[in-house]
Amino acid sequence: MPEKEKIVWITGASSGIGKSLVYSFASRGFNVAASARRIELLERMKNDSGFAGSIHLFPMDVSNLESIIKTSKEISKSFVISGLINNAGLTSFKNATENSYKEIDDIIDTNLKGAIYTIQSTINGMIKRKEGKIFNILSVAAKKIFINSSVYSASKAGLLAYSNVLREELRSNGISITNVLPGATKTPIWQGEALSKFSSRMMSPDDLAEVIFSLYKVKGSAIPEEITFRPIKGDL
Ligand SMILES: NC(=O)c1ccc[n+]([C@@H]2O[C@H](COP(=O)([O-])OP(=O)(O)OC[C@H]3O[C@@H](n4cnc5c(N)ncnc54)[C@H](OP(=O)(O)O)[C@@H]3O)[C@@H](O)[C@H]2O)c1
Repeated sequence: MPEKEKIVWITGASSGIGKSLVYSFASRGFNVAASARRIELLERMKNDSGFAGSIHLFPMDVSNLESIIKTSKEISKSFVISGLINNAGLTSFKNATENSYKEIDDIIDTNLKGAIYTIQSTINGMIKRKEGKIFNILSVAAKKIFINSSVYSASKAGLLAYSNVLREELRSNGISITNVLPGATKTPIWQGEALSKFSSRMMSPDDLAEVIFSLYKVKGSAIPEEITFRPIKGDL
C-alpha cells in the first residue's frame, strides 16, 4: 500500500486568520485539512484559493467531541496528520457579569476544550511516528488584562498552561508545541464599531499567517515555543 501523504490540520479555516493560514500553507504545496462549521464558507475559501488541489475540507464543530473524533478519523483514513493548528475560536466582548452561561460554555468549549480534545485526537499518532508540530493560536489576552474578555482570557490562558505542560511531557517524542499570542488582527471576530474604528491599527491576517508559516517551517535544533505578535502601534 502506498504511504499516506502528510497533512496539516487547520481549525477555524472558514474565516480570518485560519483562512489566511490555509492559503499560506496550500500555496507552498502543503496538504491542508481545513475545518470549520460553515461549509459554504469553506467551499468558497477553497474555490477562491487557486490551490484547491491542496485543500481538503473536513467540516467540524470543535465544541463537539464526537465531531472532533469523527473528523480526526476521517482525515487519518487518507493522510498522516503531521501538523495541527488550533485556531478556531470566538469571544463575547462582554463584561464578566453580562455573559450568559451559554456564552461561557461556548467560549470554553470552543477555545479551550475544543483545542485540547483536538490535540488529544491526534497526539497518539504523532507520538507513534515521533514527529509532529502543534501550533495554538492564543492571544495577547492570555497574559495581558483586557476588560470585556474575562472568559476569553481564561480560555486562552488555560490552553497556554495546558500546552506548556504537554510540551514538557512530549520532549522526548520529537513533537514541538508552539504557542502564538497575536494582538488585534483585522478579522470578523471584531464586531461592527470596533472593526470600523480600529481596523487601520490592526494586523493583517495574511501578514500574521505568513510569519506563522515561516515559524512552522523552522527546522533543526531551535524550536519556537512561544511568540507574541502585536500591531506596530501596539494594543488597541
Ligand atoms: N482577530 C484578532 O484580533 C485575534 C487576536 C488574537 C487571537 N485571535 C484568535 O485567532 C483565532 C481565529 O480568529 P479570527 O480572528 O480569525 O476570527 P474569525 O474570523 O471569526 O474566525 C474564527 C474561526 O473559528 C471558527 N469557529 C468558531 N467556532 C467554531 C466551532 N464551534 N467549530 C469549528 N470552528 C469554529 C469559525 O468557523 P465557523 O464559524 O465556520 O465554524 C472561523 O473559521 C481565534 O482563536 C482567536 O481567538 C484573534
